[in-house]
Amino acid sequence: MKTSSIIALTCSELAACTVLWDGRFNDMTTSVDLDNWSWANQVGEYQWYIHGDGVTTDYVNLSPDYKNPADTGSEQGVKMTLDSTAYWNGQTMRRTELIPQTTAAINAGTVWYHFSMMREDTNAPSVNREHQICFFESHFTEMKAGWLSGSSGTSDTNLRWMANSVSQWDTEFTAGVWHNIAYEIDFTGGTVGFWYSTGADDLVLTVEPVSVSASSNGADWHLGVLELPRDGRFKWRRHILEQHHTGWHDSRQYQHPDHAANLDDQGLDSDYDSRARNRDDIGDGTGRDDYFVSVLGGPDLNDYYSQCL
Ligand SMILES: *[C@@H]1O[C@H](CO)[C@@H](O)[C@H](O)[C@H]1NC(C)=O
Repeated sequence: MKTSSIIALTCSELAACTVLWDGRFNDMTTSVDLDNWSWANQVGEYQWYIHGDGVTTDYVNLSPDYKNPADTGSEQGVKMTLDSTAYWNGQTMRRTELIPQTTAAINAGTVWYHFSMMREDTNAPSVNREHQICFFESHFTEMKAGWLSGSSGTSDTNLRWMANSVSQWDTEFTAGVWHNIAYEIDFTGGTVGFWYSTGADDLVLTVEPVSVSASSNGADWHLGVLELPRDGRFKWRRHILEQHHTGWHDSRQYQHPDHAANLDDQGLDSDYDSRARNRDDIGDGTGRDDYFVSVLGGPDLNDYYSQCL
């Protein structure tokens, strides 16, 4: 993912939106400012604890180059990185995520969560693994990129919007294209609508509000990315066992490349996750993925206000 910016808006009457919580990075010089936050000293706009053991600049960096140029309200965007150390808290998922630090009512009534996101060809996210991007803890609304765990095939080049873990909309996750997104969340009525545009275009209501189990404690909005390890171990084992009916050698041709070695007689690859770590399925061998996000992404927020009726 490239850089994006995020914000929560509320719109109680015609063209009268209020910024409830400002997730832009306008008050920060560098991402090292995030280190000011701790559980004991909860300052700034973001809680910063979901990341690997490296220094902050291994995972989060700020620059005017990392925002949608059409986003005139943000001075800089954020580049979020998953590298070979980006495992949080002993988990098998790679995670770099920012959480709002606010007491504002970003989890009540109707609010818009507004951001832009982009990826580049350099350090592109893997198309072979599921990435959950800009999501709530319960995943009632989120973006996803890459192969969806449990689906057929081994890769997926789409960026998609999911509500209640069901794909509602998708587009090619093309390098260099800024995707402008707003989730229109009605926490009271239990719906979420999807506003979308690219580049400098105005947001358009692209998917009418759908029914969801909308809930948030106000501190579980995840601005960033979570990458699942391939769950292929079980899936491929089952497939290979089925293929035993036609003989072991026939089954080999169905194996995912990750499984070309280390399969035991049952087709179980017990070393799968550890070997999958540090690999880059795109092929540059760095094992590093970058995502770009800007909060209050383009188009200009004023354009969005005018649509907020
Ligand atoms: C973080 O702390 C440093 C050192 O006290 C300070 O200079 C900086 O302004 C702080 N950052 C923010 C965003 O408040």
